[in-house]
Amino acid sequence: MHLLTSTPRLARLLGLAAAFIASNVQAGASPAVGGYYNEAYRPAYHFTPAKAWMNDPNGMVYHNGLYHLFYQYHPNSMVWGPMHWGHAVSRDLTHWQHRPIALQPDKLGWIFSGSAVIDKTNSAGFGKDAMVAIFTYHNDEIWKQGRKNTESQALAYSTDEGVTWTKYVGNPVLNNSGEQDFRDPKVFWHEPSARWNMVLAVGDRIRIFSSADLKQWQFESDFKPEEPGPALGVWECPDLFALTTDDGRTRWVMIVNHGDKAPNGGSGTRYFIGDYDGRTFRASQAAQWLDSGSDFYAGVTFENTPNQARVLMAWMSNWQYAAKVPTSPWRSAMTLPRTLHLVAHQGGYRISQRVAADIKTLATLRYRALKPELPFERKKLDLSRADVRFDVNKAAGLDVRIGNSRGEFFHIYQKDGKLYTDRRQSGQTAFSASFAQSPQVMPMAGERIANVRLLIDRSSVEILINDGLYSMTNLVFPSQPYTDLRITGASGEQIRNLRVDTLSRIWPYTP
Ligand code: FRU
Repeated sequence: MHLLTSTPRLARLLGLAAAFIASNVQAGASPAVGGYYNEAYRPAYHFTPAKAWMNDPNGMVYHNGLYHLFYQYHPNSMVWGPMHWGHAVSRDLTHWQHRPIALQPDKLGWIFSGSAVIDKTNSAGFGKDAMVAIFTYHNDEIWKQGRKNTESQALAYSTDEGVTWTKYVGNPVLNNSGEQDFRDPKVFWHEPSARWNMVLAVGDRIRIFSSADLKQWQFESDFKPEEPGPALGVWECPDLFALTTDDGRTRWVMIVNHGDKAPNGGSGTRYFIGDYDGRTFRASQAAQWLDSGSDFYAGVTFENTPNQARVLMAWMSNWQYAAKVPTSPWRSAMTLPRTLHLVAHQGGYRISQRVAADIKTLATLRYRALKPELPFERKKLDLSRADVRFDVNKAAGLDVRIGNSRGEFFHIYQKDGKLYTDRRQSGQTAFSASFAQSPQVMPMAGERIANVRLLIDRSSVEILINDGLYSMTNLVFPSQPYTDLRITGASGEQIRNLRVDTLSRIWPYTP
């Protein structure tokens, strides 16, 4: 077994075995007491499947007014297994409508992660404007025998807005070159070279291919930078796209997800900034983590969006404990869609992430204070589905607690120029020893905090600092909803424009 894969894959398989019986019971069960989409811990305004196991976002593409979200799905189980592509659509990146499963496993294998494009010129011959999915076949039988030709890339297409899908008869279109991990194709149109490009995770590198017709792929280059420090876990789910700063400078961004060994344990998403010519990507600065919390993985972006906005969604979980989180009858949520912006920062570039979902339409103002005194403390706020925002006077000692009357709290604090989250007392944590071992930390390169946004949704908190230049995403499972907000600071620190909005549920879907 490949060294890089062994830990997460083994953990995944053990989780699969351990949870098998319980999960099959749970997946078949009717919704819990709370009712449809109102069960305990069910996110109110994040995407979740109605039931069963979900992981990575897949095939995200915009077409004819709809954002299509496909996702890794195991429809009759609460844990990972033979993968399908689930499907949902949205007009506003806020409300989602479930669609039938798009892709089912077949004799070539399970349907692993991948992407989708709109073939505007009918280059593949499936029809003008066909939606073409490029995914990985994972042959688990072969994988279990320890052989290496386990994964290959394949096509499926739809000419009716993603409702019905046909798998290409010539599959697979890209065979394995002897690597066990050879997956997660992200395909995009590279205008200057007028070719399709594919980035693929291959062991501990990203391999780039090009094609004129999506069917025949030519090797271009490998991206594997020299990096100090110990190797990170297996490379998965890459993405590659251009971003332009406000003052018009364009850079390319290579996203790489790592199944294990992220700084706060388990899975995480990094990005490199550099140059790309349609063949080779060259990083011009060291990699940065896109989100430093432990629950942000497999983040990739939509293709074909209006105004070329780069909108990313990630799986809001972590392979270390995803199969154990105490939710039923579904497992896992996606992050809010986030628009990526390129910002000149400390002599290089950094990505800032802003909420792409139009959540203003969900918001009702519940509390506002222009200049609250610190320490600020307010109880009996509904923080179960809330958007909390405030400005800070360049804080170095900010301390925020979101808690409930049972004494459970999620803690966010600054210390020695870094931001920490601590969920050791946030509620249920015992379901996995790796869930809340120690506080999580995000280095901030000496930067002070100017503004904070907390998007709290029943069992998750997305933290965006300084207009999304820094972010941390964490799951939490309080035994009672959070109601109390406490903000303190170091001496002399002040907060301004505190605003707490309650966000209404996006479920059940209403067009
Ligand atoms: C990432 C990943 C991908 C793979 C998929 C399988 O979370 O391991 O590399 O395609 O999940 O479900």
